[in-house]
Formats: sequence, structure tokens, C-alpha cells
Amino acid sequence: MTQSGRIHSRIAGTGSYLPEKVLTNADLEKIVETSDEWIQSRTGIKERHIAAKGQTSSDLGYEAAIRALEAAGVAAADLDMILVGTTTPDLVFPSTACLIQILLGAEGCAAMDVNAACSGFLFALSVADKFIRTGDAKTILVIGTETLTRIVDWTERTTCVLFGDGAGAVVLKADAETGILSTHLHADGSKKDLLTCPVGVSAGFDNSKPNAGLGIQMKGSDVFKYAVKALDGVVDETLRANGLDKHDLDWLIPHQANLRIIEATAKRLEMSMDQVVVTVDKHGNTSSASVPLALDAAVRSGKVKRGQLLLLEAFGGGFTWGSALLRY
Ligand code: ACO
Repeated sequence: MTQSGRIHSRIAGTGSYLPEKVLTNADLEKIVETSDEWIQSRTGIKERHIAAKGQTSSDLGYEAAIRALEAAGVAAADLDMILVGTTTPDLVFPSTACLIQILLGAEGCAAMDVNAACSGFLFALSVADKFIRTGDAKTILVIGTETLTRIVDWTERTTCVLFGDGAGAVVLKADAETGILSTHLHADGSKKDLLTCPVGVSAGFDNSKPNAGLGIQMKGSDVFKYAVKALDGVVDETLRANGLDKHDLDWLIPHQANLRIIEATAKRLEMSMDQVVVTVDKHGNTSSASVPLALDAAVRSGKVKRGQLLLLEAFGGGFTWGSALLRY
């Protein structure tokens, strides 16, 4: 607690995991009519990782979690809660958070999934922050994990080149020092048809067409335009809420969907690309795993240092979008 009696939530450690198999743009040229040149120039993606047969979102999330716990010096038994952002859960239920809890041997603490598509990790981080600030929890594991390539239509070149699998995690702890300054979350369900994976549970399964119609569907250029505008709005809102200027930021850690969207946000913030963490070239779009994967890469490479001011942001299906401003 601070002298004012306020409890803050602070990132105590980060971790991530990428499956072994790498699928390059050259590999994709053999699957659909595309080219390395098209993919790189439109998205910035060079390669992505693909989960092995039988490897699930909980498996990836567990690997990221043990690295984050180790970095934080926290034992799984000390967790008060496990929150998992995912849009590709292993099962309808139990939740992926419950499945990771078993793997960690952390039975007893609260565990739940948060589905906000690519914004899932930030939505989960925001929930964790609130539990810690109110004093209801002291130590929370927040994970973003996805096996998005399982819901990709591999005959559809407009989407299958974009996505990859992976997981990232952070351990949030109650702290006397400021960590997360604010989170801002938004959604606009009226745009649901622009980016969707229309495979139903309550809406019903349709297994009659094994490939067509069951994967991710996206009106790419509409999503692009809306994403840039929404992200501009949320970064302005975040800075205003904290009385900060864009030049106060040390790092932008954006959702890794498309290098051109990332560059547009950096331009808005008048940040040089040297202050932007970019992993989309190596990871593709890993949905809710993308922000914690990028954060962990930046921490472990020594780019991001303690005390620096980080702006995390994401945009995804729903539409959903959000930000987190934090002192690392
Ligand atoms: N290889 C070669 N050509 C292709 C490919 C491909 N893989 N995909 C599309 N094309 C062609 C199209 O058919 C089209 O051809 P035409 O002009 O003859 O009709 C042309 O390329 C241009 O297609 P566009 O869709 O207009 O290309 P655009 O420049 O918009 O780039 C992209 C597409 C990369 C999808 C971009 O729109 C984008 O990144 N959108 C946002 C994605 C995003 O941010 N998603 C949010 C998160 S995802 C989530 O929440 C799960």
C-alpha cells in the first residue's frame, strides 16, 4: 500500500511460449495462391508458429505461465486467481483457465476465461487489476493463449496467411508502487459481421461443410479502417485520463495484427518505430496472445526496463478494443 493507502497492481514477471513448428510465407505459397511479397508488404508477416497435433491452448498457456511465475518468483500455490484471455478454448467447458490450473497444481484459486477475441488479454488484465486494487486478490496470473490456426480456413488466402499460435503471461501482484495506471475497454457489437468465426454452440453446429464457412471470416479493409480509428481514440483517451503527453511514453506494445496498423498508431503518438515493440513479423496475429508475447519478448531482450512507461493496446473481433497504461 502507498502512504495514501492505495493498493496498486504491478507486473512482477512475464513469460511466453511459441510452438516449435514454423510456417513461413514460402510454405504458404504451396497451400494457397499467395506470395511472400504480398504477405510482407500488406501485413509485415514473414512467418508464424503452428501448434503441434494435440497441443492445445491450455498446453501453450501453461508453458507461458510457468515462465512468468519463475520470472516473478511466485509459486503456483500462492495464486489467488487465474484469468485467461482466449478465443480458442480447449473445450466449451471446463474453461482453459481451469485446465491450466490443473497443470500448475494450483487447485482452489478462482479461474476463468475472458473472451474478447484479440483484446482478450487486455480485458483479462483489466479485470485482474480491479481485483487487486480493491484488495480482493494479491497475486493473479493473467494469460493470453491461442491456437488460432485451428479455426482458420486453409483454403481462404485472405485470412489464412494472417494468424499464428502462441501464448504469453504476466503475474500481477499487489504493490505499494504504481504499476498499472489505467485500463480502458470498449466494444461495438454492431460490427459483429465484419470479423467473425461463425461456429456455434448455442447457435448450432454445422459440420456439413468441412472447410468452407467454418473458419475466421473478415472484411479486411473495413476492419483495418475501423481498427486504426478505434485505436487512435483509445490511445488519446488513455493519455487524457492520466494527464500525460504522448511524449511521456517510453514504449508502445501494440496488438500484432498488421504492421501498417501498428505504424499508424505510432505515427499518431509521434513515436519512432524504435520505441514500438514489433513481433508480427515472426509471430503473425496470435490474437489475445499477441500483446503478452510482445511484452515478454521486449522484457527478456532487455528493451523494456523497470520504471518505464508502457502503452499496451489491442483491437479484435466483436469489435473489441482497449488499452493499458503501466509503469513496468
Ligand atoms: N495473397 C495474395 N493476394 C491476396 C491475398 C493473399 N494472401 N489476400 C487477398 N489478396 C488479394 C485480394 O483478393 C485483392 O485482390 P483484387 O484487388 O484483385 O480483388 C487484393 O489482394 C487486395 O485485397 P484487400 O483485402 O483489399 O487487401 P488489404 O490491403 O486490405 O490487406 C489485410 C488485407 C491484410 C487483411 C488488411 O485489410 C488487414 O490487415 N486488415 C485488418 C486485420 C485486423 O486488424 N484484424 C483484427 C484482429 S483479428 C481478430 O480479432 C481475430
